[in-house]
Amino acid sequence: MNSEPVVRELAEPHLRRLLSTAGLDVEYVRASGNTLYRKGANGEEIPVLDYAAGYGALIFGHNHPDIVARARELLDEQTPVLAQFSSHPYANRLAAELNRIIQRETGSDEPYYATFANSGAEGIEVALKHAELDRVMRLSKVFEEIEASARRVRETVRAGAATVPDTVWTRLGLPRPTAGQDVADLLIAEIARRNQLRRAKPPVFVALKAGFHGKLMGSVQLTHNESYRTPFAALGAQARFVPCDHPEALKEVLQEERGTLLEPAVQDGTVRLVERDHHTICAFLLEPIQGEGGIRPLSVEFAQEIKAFAEEADCPVVIDEIQSGLGRTGTFLGATRLGLRGDYYVFAKSLGGGIAKASVTLVREGRYRPEFELLHSSTFAKDSFSCHIALKVLDMLEADGGRGYRLAQERGAALAGMLHGIRTDFPDVVKEVRGHGLMLGFEFHDQSDAADDRLREAARSSLFGYVIAGHLLHAHNIRTFPTASAVHTLRFEPSVLLTDEEIDRLEHALRDVCALVRDQAGDRLVLVS
Ligand SMILES: Cc1ncc(COP(=O)(O)O)c(C=O)c1O
Repeated sequence: MNSEPVVRELAEPHLRRLLSTAGLDVEYVRASGNTLYRKGANGEEIPVLDYAAGYGALIFGHNHPDIVARARELLDEQTPVLAQFSSHPYANRLAAELNRIIQRETGSDEPYYATFANSGAEGIEVALKHAELDRVMRLSKVFEEIEASARRVRETVRAGAATVPDTVWTRLGLPRPTAGQDVADLLIAEIARRNQLRRAKPPVFVALKAGFHGKLMGSVQLTHNESYRTPFAALGAQARFVPCDHPEALKEVLQEERGTLLEPAVQDGTVRLVERDHHTICAFLLEPIQGEGGIRPLSVEFAQEIKAFAEEADCPVVIDEIQSGLGRTGTFLGATRLGLRGDYYVFAKSLGGGIAKASVTLVREGRYRPEFELLHSSTFAKDSFSCHIALKVLDMLEADGGRGYRLAQERGAALAGMLHGIRTDFPDVVKEVRGHGLMLGFEFHDQSDAADDRLREAARSSLFGYVIAGHLLHAHNIRTFPTASAVHTLRFEPSVLLTDEEIDRLEHALRDVCALVRDQAGDRLVLVS
């Protein structure tokens, strides 16, 4: 008898058990376009329409033939995949192409320099590290200037060409020096002590409530979801979160993070203390549309408030385009809709064409630190395979005068129209439909007080969205998930290949789900438990 050996579950078994409670632990054996295939009981392939689409990483769907052909070509040509510390013309071409597209969309010709990594979170950490390096280097320059002023003042006072008035000692909280004390030394030492205290304050990153920027040690501290973030709070970067559309919260952060450095100067034979502004704010991070936070578009008005905040704090705006970029919202950048230009951009997900793992962090020339290139690297980053595949993805988006973007707009509008239609018919079940292009969210009303026991229980244990996902999969062969931090919102992020027939299938399935929720038919909705 040819029986398969039972393999103990060692690959995240807890997660697997959780998935199985909603019937989501199915194995997919093949993928093409917007379809994943799973094996049925008799070994037959069952097609599943995939609206989760690699968490928004498949702008051209699974295994697009042109991308696969390019990959085959690269392998057949024995392209050296890993040749670190050598010339990488393909990486340069990728950076140049990203620049060309961004310049077209933002209308600015200032170049951006590229740093390569392997995942979205890694790309964000590149941005955080670069911003901190820039902050520290700018601060060092300020300290050099202050120290040069201090030397000049010390010499002038020692030479008897300037005196230190009482107001200066009062400002420093020190008693007037007694005879025999070195006035210049006392003054300069106290200024240095105060400035060093200020300098030692840790940098602060500002991010938005409901934002998601990854789960590595630094990036998770900028991901608002408490359950991901707080267990590791002691390890990573310091962050402050502000709610969207609350400009007063921005003003509060500015006020609280603002401080001064003291610089001594001599004017008309008298020593004065000049206050120099010092912020601890290192960078502002945002997603043009919050993906894992429930597909929530940032408003144009608040984007302008953020721009003003960053100018005032003299910190870079880091635009996380990991999910919204690469054409998903109908333009290459999700931020184009906002009229907001980033000092940094981070791309990942669809950049890899569904078969490579790649991220790129771009930094505007005016803020770029070439020193960073010797401080940050990764074995797999900038490999030829992912750069060539990313170039192919950009080619495909740009082909025929930007057909990829037009498709995202047009297919997105058709999908959104259908979702809005359901919301109109089920306002008691569907709270809101949000998003742009092919980045859409469908939020259900909270069922925590539902009459039906199963629905109420699912909502109270934050599993409601997963139960709906299980139903869609088992009753309709449609795959999607709730967003990671807003579990009442289902995500719809298919590829630009989405057909009318695929939209119709989803409509049929969602209408079924909404009718079951309206009827409080938990027994028919909850298929697995
Ligand atoms: C906006 C955003 N930033 C960062 C990340 C993290 O990317 P990765 O999962 O590749 O680390 C994600 C992933 O979903 C994301 O949506």
